[in-house]
Amino acid sequence: MADATVKVLCFAGSLRKDSLNKKLVKLAMAQAAAAGAQTTFLDLKELDLPIYDGDLEQASGLPPGAKKLKELMKAHHAFLIAAPEYNSAISGALKNAIDWASRPDGDEKPLICFAGKVAGIMAASPGAYGGIRGLPTVRSILENIGVFVIPDQLALSKAHEAFAEDGSVKDDKTSETVKRIASRVVTITQKIS
Ligand code: FNR
Repeated sequence: MADATVKVLCFAGSLRKDSLNKKLVKLAMAQAAAAGAQTTFLDLKELDLPIYDGDLEQASGLPPGAKKLKELMKAHHAFLIAAPEYNSAISGALKNAIDWASRPDGDEKPLICFAGKVAGIMAASPGAYGGIRGLPTVRSILENIGVFVIPDQLALSKAHEAFAEDGSVKDDKTSETVKRIASRVVTITQKIS
């Protein structure tokens, strides 16, 4: 990628208005912008995605939310994803979004939304482990569909106490980790895209 600006799509695997993961990914998004990327925040709730159903897909193709998601993903080189941990694994909302986005529309190339993309992953949880048990699942799914997931990741524990009023995180070390993940996603995307 010679002169093109890196475009990073940022989203959380939570539909909740007050999602801690949305807060976390917005911080990472600001750091990606500071590192020179063009960033877009996507609230998965706005897509109103039904649960993936092959019969629905066969009868009427991809629903509008899935088409919108795919257009956004195709228009970006990289992703920053904050993934809540549900019962030690990926949230249904995030898995469902990935499932829809993995479906080809017409004669598109397979996995066009994912193949060759770069991602940085993180999690936030009020619990003591910060969602660390869910991240390997998220990493594995993305890697298996062609995404290069950077090795750095963050599991933010006690996340309900972690954020200041202005949306920043109170702990400097956490802030540095968010910055490192975001800037590496930008730098690595520049190098490999
Ligand atoms: C959770 N939560 C949770 N937390 C955790 O650290 N490990 C876990 O395994 C689970 N499991 C789990 C299952 C289900 C069904 C729910 C609804 C919640 C708590 C979860 O981390 C917490 O609700 C976060 O606040 C969810 O992320 P958002 O919505 O704040 O981004």
